[in-house]
Amino acid sequence: MARITVDEIKARKVAKGATPIVSLTAYTQPMAKFLDPHCDFLLVGDSLAMVVYGLETTRGVTIEIMCAHGRAVTRGAKQALVVVDLPQGTYEDSTTQAVASARRVIEETDAQAVKLEGGVEMAATVAAIVSAGVPVLGHIGLLPQKAEHRGAFKIQGKGDEGARQVMADAHAIADAGAFAMVIEGTVEPVAREITEQVAVPTIGIGASPACDGQILVSEDMLGLFADFTPKFVKKYAELGGAIEQAVKEYAQDVRKGAFPGLEHCFGVEKK
Ligand code: KIV
Repeated sequence: MARITVDEIKARKVAKGATPIVSLTAYTQPMAKFLDPHCDFLLVGDSLAMVVYGLETTRGVTIEIMCAHGRAVTRGAKQALVVVDLPQGTYEDSTTQAVASARRVIEETDAQAVKLEGGVEMAATVAAIVSAGVPVLGHIGLLPQKAEHRGAFKIQGKGDEGARQVMADAHAIADAGAFAMVIEGTVEPVAREITEQVAVPTIGIGASPACDGQILVSEDMLGLFADFTPKFVKKYAELGGAIEQAVKEYAQDVRKGAFPGLEHCFGVEKK
């Protein structure tokens, strides 16, 4: 099966009759293999700082870490487009820094696009990366990389000024050439209006059912991340509980000598 392209994602506006875009985060090759047949794109999100590395926020994850996980995911994903986050500190200083980081991520991971956070203030950066030939997925609304701690994650788009700001960010990123944009943690009517106004698809997370697609952190929707569950997450499974139960049974078996059985050993004559 051919891989979904950036242009195919870009054309998927629900208002024009398209089916909503399905996306989840992936950080490893085995998980990418499970998600790949069902998703239009996989995001190697810097949320892995919290979900995999136990950090308080998405800050503190390096480009080397993102590249290692990005490469693992592209090894597992055969049909979904793969997007890798540019981590905080690798693109904000100058367009030269941003283009170098974006090119490095694509070269080292074989991903098809990068994502970066920010609106009006990042428009020139998005334009520079796109001009350098690297497709960009924008990210507006709640910007986790700006938060010093988890308590600083605040819903965006509230009030006239809040709405005006997120709206301006959306237009700036679309005009700069992003092929789509994530809208995170933004009041529903604003996310809906942005979706109606911008020509490129919007991907909601804590945003609106009207968005052109949806994304969740896989570990959240699978019940694998117990530290904190945001209101916008629907849990489709409780795998954390299943893991605990399996490990409990394994530990009991080992302690009582029930595992391994001879059927798990080598050089044993079959009866
Ligand atoms: O890092 C991430 O996982 C993200 C998604 C939550 C959109 O940016």
